[in-house]
Amino acid sequence: MDLPQPLDPLAKTALWTASMRAREHRRVDRLFSDPLAETFAGDEGPRIMSQFEEHVQPGVEDPALAVRTRFLDDQLLRLDADGVRQFVFVAVGMDSRAFRLEWSPDVLIYELDRPALLSLKEDLLRDIHPPATAARVPLGVDLLADWAGPLRTTGFDPGLTTCWLVEGLLYFLEPHERDVLLRRITDLSAPGSSLLADYVGQTVLDSPGMAAWRARMAEQGHPWKSGSDRPEEIFAPLGWRIKVSAYGDPDADYGRWPEVTVAPGLSGTRGRYLVNATSR
Ligand SMILES: C[S@@+](CC[C@H](N)C(=O)[O-])C[C@H]1O[C@@H](n2cnc3c(N)ncnc32)[C@H](O)[C@@H]1O
Repeated sequence: MDLPQPLDPLAKTALWTASMRAREHRRVDRLFSDPLAETFAGDEGPRIMSQFEEHVQPGVEDPALAVRTRFLDDQLLRLDADGVRQFVFVAVGMDSRAFRLEWSPDVLIYELDRPALLSLKEDLLRDIHPPATAARVPLGVDLLADWAGPLRTTGFDPGLTTCWLVEGLLYFLEPHERDVLLRRITDLSAPGSSLLADYVGQTVLDSPGMAAWRARMAEQGHPWKSGSDRPEEIFAPLGWRIKVSAYGDPDADYGRWPEVTVAPGLSGTRGRYLVNATSR
């Protein structure tokens, strides 16, 4: 029997986000339901979550993950309703949307991440075999290398309108790595394709209020490396028209975004954003 491959520190952040989704799932006023999240988080996800919340933000439950998950759920289902059938979840981690959202019958979701992470996910799914609500194609790749070739080999059709989901990734990349990734995505995008992403503002990233958070992230081997105060400068030259929602805007609030303290970051500062882009 093959031994499980160890996860690199950045891949482990997927267990952390699963753990936060499991916590949201348990709330009476939950913004989404995610019954698989607890299994995906395992023992390690809650441990990582508590390390951050106890040591960096004592007593604070960060609302960003719940808000971003629901916001992106809504956007994905809107695109499905608009007729998009090809979705690529870039750095999918333990995202369980292929099981928990009500997709149209002919939707196909490509799930890209590190081979070790996807292999763990498949092992966990084999144990509980939940019914999928969309066809899914997991593909183990290094997103910093050439993943476009392997994606095409699995059947991805660049001639179709595609929705790309890049959630929980961009700030872990150096600016040039981010730009190369977005260029590859753009090259595979038929006109009218969509790109959904989240990112952090550079001013907030560089602010004293973020110092403890950034130090802790770096110590754990998954530093935040880049942000942007002007995302249009990243997306527009590639031919994407973007709409940016700050957490706490009417379309990205869901009654959860506190006005006074936003964690992590500065008091009264939003600093993190959700991008909805359409290719021209
Ligand atoms: C914070 S998790 C986000 C996972 C998921 N999108 C979510 O929101 O729950 C970051 C993910 O990026 C993946 N990742 C980071 N760098 C990668 C790379 N070079 N190649 C493949 N996957 C990568 C990690 O393995 C991890 O699953």
